[in-house]
Amino acid sequence: MPGLHIANGAEPKNSQPAFVFDIDGVFIRGEKLIPGARETIQLLQSRNSPFIFLTNGGGHTEQKRVEKLSQRLGLTLDAKQFVQSHTPYHDLVSEYGNKTVLVLGAHGDQIRDLAHKYGFKKVLTSSDIVAERPLIHPFREMTKAHHEKYGRNNNILDTTPISAIMFWSSSRDLGLDLQIITDLLLSAGGYIGTKSPKNGDPSLPNHGYQQDNQPRLFFCNPDFLWSTEYHEPRFAQGAAIAALKGIFHEMTGGKGELLYTSIGKPTETTYVYAEKVLREYGRKLDPAREIGTVYMIGDNPRSDIVGAKSFRSRCGYKWMSVLVETGVYVPGSVPAHQPDHTAADVKQAVEWVLRKGKEKRINGAE
Ligand code: G3P
Ligand code: MG
Repeated sequence: MPGLHIANGAEPKNSQPAFVFDIDGVFIRGEKLIPGARETIQLLQSRNSPFIFLTNGGGHTEQKRVEKLSQRLGLTLDAKQFVQSHTPYHDLVSEYGNKTVLVLGAHGDQIRDLAHKYGFKKVLTSSDIVAERPLIHPFREMTKAHHEKYGRNNNILDTTPISAIMFWSSSRDLGLDLQIITDLLLSAGGYIGTKSPKNGDPSLPNHGYQQDNQPRLFFCNPDFLWSTEYHEPRFAQGAAIAALKGIFHEMTGGKGELLYTSIGKPTETTYVYAEKVLREYGRKLDPAREIGTVYMIGDNPRSDIVGAKSFRSRCGYKWMSVLVETGVYVPGSVPAHQPDHTAADVKQAVEWVLRKGKEKRINGAE
């Protein structure tokens, strides 16, 4: 094991705490910076403490996101400190890099360009599907102009199977996307406009649903709600998962279970990925100091807190969670998952951790 072995909560001598920060509801709300955000990062940078950002947000390259956050904070951050919801999609390039994939979320060519930058070469958007099959979604009045502007009719759908459907951020035309996804999941081999003869066959697993080389379906953000400038949390990608589950249930007469893979917090895949990024970043900062405890600081008990609580470190680190009161969590309510500590905001959360370390040192615990 490359990390440390922690017994009875005490950390070995040369260890230090590290931080994994959620972004929305911790550092920012919509376009607004949360008070204390800048000082917190400045403090950690001055101490040379390892920290990374782990967000279920996305839609841009890690480089672009880090530039935006750096600019807002007025500080310099490194793209290597940044794990977005779709960052682990990098690991799918070896399998799908040369196959046709349908990418969903955001608007314009944003996700097409992003997927290309990740290394996916054959990328379609739902606007491309509309360009080639204009009648696929009967209710296009509100979004027609967008699809006409960005859709490319490649004339390939009859001969090209779609191998994967990948959400990269929240859908901007969910009605259309739900229709296309359902069509593809019921298709024969991922060919738009076909129907698998295996659908509903009780002799097959899942009653024959998604048993005929249909595309694999990937989501990158299970969050049902997220914190914005609006006074109440808003739907995130998890709402699309819930909607699709309901539709699939109806379409299959309750016989087929929707088969999909989800990454993003709180999934294990994402925490494994984040821990690797944190370890590398910590080593880059100071190869001589190991990480002892990782503090996940987030605003969403169903995402940040449960993810940290249920994660079993691959590096021998101890993971603890701190819930802040500046986002999704309603102060005073009982959180869906109990954190190790609750703090008013990110600044107080970090101060609590640093105070704890100091007390431990005074009491000779580490
Ligand atoms: O869509 C983004 C949102 O669900 C959460 O972002 O930074 O709170 O993980 P974050
Ligand atoms: Mg959050």
